Amino acid sequence: MAHPKLEVSWLRKSFPGLDVIGGISAAVQKGEFISIVGPSGCGKTTFLRIVAGLEQASGGEVRLDGRVVREPGADRGFVFQSDNLLPWRTIYDNARIGQEIAGRSGAAERQRTMDMLKLVGLEGFEHYYPRQLSGGMRQRVNLARALAVDPEVLLMDEPFSALDAQTREIMQTELLRIWERGRKTVLFVTHQIDEAVLLSDRVWVFARRPGRLQEVIDIPIPRPRDLSAKRTPDFVALVDRIWRLIEHDVRDSVLHENT
Ligand SMILES: Nc1ncnc2c1ncn2[C@@H]1O[C@H](COP(=O)(O)OP(=O)(O)OP(=O)(O)O)[C@@H](O)[C@H]1O
Ligand SMILES: [Mg+2]
Repeated sequence: MAHPKLEVSWLRKSFPGLDVIGGISAAVQKGEFISIVGPSGCGKTTFLRIVAGLEQASGGEVRLDGRVVREPGADRGFVFQSDNLLPWRTIYDNARIGQEIAGRSGAAERQRTMDMLKLVGLEGFEHYYPRQLSGGMRQRVNLARALAVDPEVLLMDEPFSALDAQTREIMQTELLRIWERGRKTVLFVTHQIDEAVLLSDRVWVFARRPGRLQEVIDIPIPRPRDLSAKRTPDFVALVDRIWRLIEHDVRDSVLHENT
C-alpha cells in the first residue's frame, strides 16, 4: 500500500480536567474521502483542529506526507460549520483570504480564485457582499476559499449543518462533483449518517469518553454517486449499521449532557 497521506499515531488530547481524545491511530491514503461520525462531545472538532494545526496534541502525533504537523499550513484547507465570511468584503475578496494569508497574490492565484468560485456555482456573484447571498451560497464561498489555496487535504467540520434539508442535499451532490474532479484527501465531520455514507470511501465511527476510533466502515458503493444511491438497499444497510454502532453513545450524550 502507498505511503499514507495522513498518519495519526496515538493521538491524545486533554483539556484541564477532561480527557477529550484518548489515543487515536489511523491512516488516510491520498485522495481518500473520510467522514467522521460520533456523538456530540466525542472530540471530532478537536481532532480536526489538531490535524489543522490549530490545536496542539497532548500526546502522539499527526503526520502529513511523513512530516509532523505543528501549525496551520497552506497544505490543509479548513471549512467550518458557520460560514465566517467577512461582511465588509466582497465574495471575491472573501474567497481570496486564504491565499492572502499564504502570501500569494499573483495573477495565477487570482485566476484560481475565479475558477473556484465558478466551480462552486458562484460565477457572476464576485462583487456581491455576504449579506446578499443565501446560506447555501455563503457556505459555497467557504468551500471556494478553502479550495483556492489548492490544499492537499480538505478538513470540513459539519459544513452543511446550518442549511435546510434540500439545500444540504444539493451541496452534497455539488461536493461529490467537485471532489470527483480534484480528488483531494478529505476529512469530513458530520452528524448525518446518510451524508457520511453518500460522500465517503470510509466512515470513521468515534466513541466518547474519551474520544476514540471505535470502528472504520468501508463504503463500497460505486462512484460516481448521486442522491439516488440513498435509496438502494446497500446504502440503507450501511446507514443502519453505523447508527447501531453509535446509538448507545448518542443517547448517553443527550441524556447526560453535563456528566
Ligand atoms: N478549548 C477547550 N477547552 C476546554 N474544553 C474543550 C475545549 N474545546 C473542546 N473542549 C471539550 O472537549 C470535548 C470535545 O469537544 P469537541 O468540540 O471536539 O466535540 P465534538 O465531537 O466536535 O462535538 P459536536 O458533535 O457537538 O460538535 C467537549 O467536552 C468540549 O467541552
Ligand atoms: Mg464539533
